[in-house]
Amino acid sequence: MNLGIDDLPVREELRGKSPYGAPQLDVPVRLNTNENPYPLPEALVERIAERVREAARNLNRYPDRDAVELRTRLAKYLTDTSGYEVGTANVWAANGSNEVIQQLLQTFGGPGRTAIGFEPSYSMHGLIARGTGTGWISGPRGEDFTIDLPAAEKAVAEHRPDVVFITTPNNPTGTAVPAETVLALYEAAQAAKPSMVVVDEAYIEFSHGDSLLPLLEGRPNLVVSRTMSKAFGAAGLRLGYLAAHPAVVDAVQLVRLPYHLSAVTQATALAALEHTDTLLKYVEQLKSERDRLVGELLAIGYEVTASDANFVQFGRFADSHEVWQHILDRGVLVRDNGVPGWLRVTAGTPEENDAFLDAVRELKCFVGGTPTPPKEQSS
Ligand SMILES: Cc1ncc(COP(=O)(O)O)c(C=O)c1O
Repeated sequence: MNLGIDDLPVREELRGKSPYGAPQLDVPVRLNTNENPYPLPEALVERIAERVREAARNLNRYPDRDAVELRTRLAKYLTDTSGYEVGTANVWAANGSNEVIQQLLQTFGGPGRTAIGFEPSYSMHGLIARGTGTGWISGPRGEDFTIDLPAAEKAVAEHRPDVVFITTPNNPTGTAVPAETVLALYEAAQAAKPSMVVVDEAYIEFSHGDSLLPLLEGRPNLVVSRTMSKAFGAAGLRLGYLAAHPAVVDAVQLVRLPYHLSAVTQATALAALEHTDTLLKYVEQLKSERDRLVGELLAIGYEVTASDANFVQFGRFADSHEVWQHILDRGVLVRDNGVPGWLRVTAGTPEENDAFLDAVRELKCFVGGTPTPPKEQSS
């Protein structure tokens, strides 16, 4: 019997929808999911093996449900890197920051409630909202992809959302959000009704500016979410976390599944955190590669959005999907996020970035106008 999703009694709001997912294509250069291109150093791989071996001896038991050792270590990392004192009680961890966001929406959103994001932004905010039955409001962004504060404040006052997402640096545009904008939106949101403001700092380690963690002081309805998927080069680990008032940490525990973070995940994350200094060295390399990409793209004649992340949005194209395909035909996978006229490339190794730059140099004819594509090489 040939059955599709829509033949099943699925929830109304899921009908006709497709699952999230960037293409995972087997091509030589993959610069489409903002991963860190550097594999973990061998010494860390060894340490993970040791820690996991220890954890394996106790796999007959459930893991530490509250992940106390890990949260303590994450709090130390946040304190050391921001200068703002974060304690174990301020931190919560889950399987990727996607799960952190899901738990936040399960706690503070849900049926009859709404969340707002300023788009284009990280599309999972809206998709997780849908998955948790939270109404989604697409808030505005300016022409230059920065948050247009008066327009954003107006949207918050009008819709009175229960959850406000602010992504800084923003994905896919790379734009950072100034602290004053976050503060103004926090005030606007609280004036409308008591609501949670989630600052998604997945890419903050790549930023020219500082983390907004100090804004947590005296603001119990503010949450900062983070991940080990990007700067730590551990996307496969699935470890995200948040910092907030301890009451927020208590609240998300109302919805988390018991033992959601496996002993193997906790052991691996702890091993990675022992190697923070080595891992963060790659961040500096990636920042300079990101800046090189910006410079070279501008020199070729592309437009680029100012980036504080490990990726660069570039354009403009009459048909960005067509250009995406042409770049792919040259063995380089970038991301078409559906932002009309723009594509996004993740900063890879210098060699990967060179391959990307060679491809887009060849496709220079596409910048801004109606192109005549260069002849495809016969294979
Ligand atoms: C802005 C933003 N937030 C959160 C995530 C989710 O990261 P993870 O679930 O791997 O921690 C991503 C991943 O690309 C992202 O771009």
